[in-house]
Amino acid sequence: MAENASGEPDSLRLFFALWPDEPTRAALNHTGKWLHQHWGGRRMRADTLHLTLAFLGCTPVAQLDALLASVYKVQAKSFEIILDQPGYWRHNHIGWFGPSQPPTQLGELVDAVNTAIQTAGVNFDARPHVPHVTLLRNIAGGDTPVCESVTWSVRDFVLVASRTNAEGAYYEVIRRWALM
Ligand code: 2AM
Repeated sequence: MAENASGEPDSLRLFFALWPDEPTRAALNHTGKWLHQHWGGRRMRADTLHLTLAFLGCTPVAQLDALLASVYKVQAKSFEIILDQPGYWRHNHIGWFGPSQPPTQLGELVDAVNTAIQTAGVNFDARPHVPHVTLLRNIAGGDTPVCESVTWSVRDFVLVASRTNAEGAYYEVIRRWALM
């Protein structure tokens, strides 16, 4: 990745997400262990678990201030998501856990964040949002086991940078916005 004169990158790989609190993270990780027993593959590290709201990808750092200013205007209320639906995608071999009945507030938050990103003139992946938490990668799939549901109380959302260091990729939460 290109760097400026002070050694900072010129661009960041960014996404907006719901970032679980510790009890929710532990519950999602537990579901990941359970699904791994059925489907194998590679478990996502507990500290990386999240639900993506919008994926921007490689974004010039020069656009960050405009993006943050635009997202500060997002107003949305706190809500709950009941995650109860495990699934896997053949095309990318991902095993995930999501809500069988996504709450309308989640769709509204995704729409508001997308609008804010567009208003800031920043590019993002505009494909329809499919709410899911990726728990496993490189799985072959199989029968879908029954999972205990996880209730996630959503009180905020975050902007995350996907970075790399000597040990590999990691996520850094760079901004957090409280919901009402
Ligand atoms: P995934 O969990 O299904 O892989 C960071 O890469 C996050 O953004 C991941 O949660 C990833 O989804 C999500 N994401 C959404 N669209 C993406 C895209 N076009 N490329 C990479 N990641 C994407």
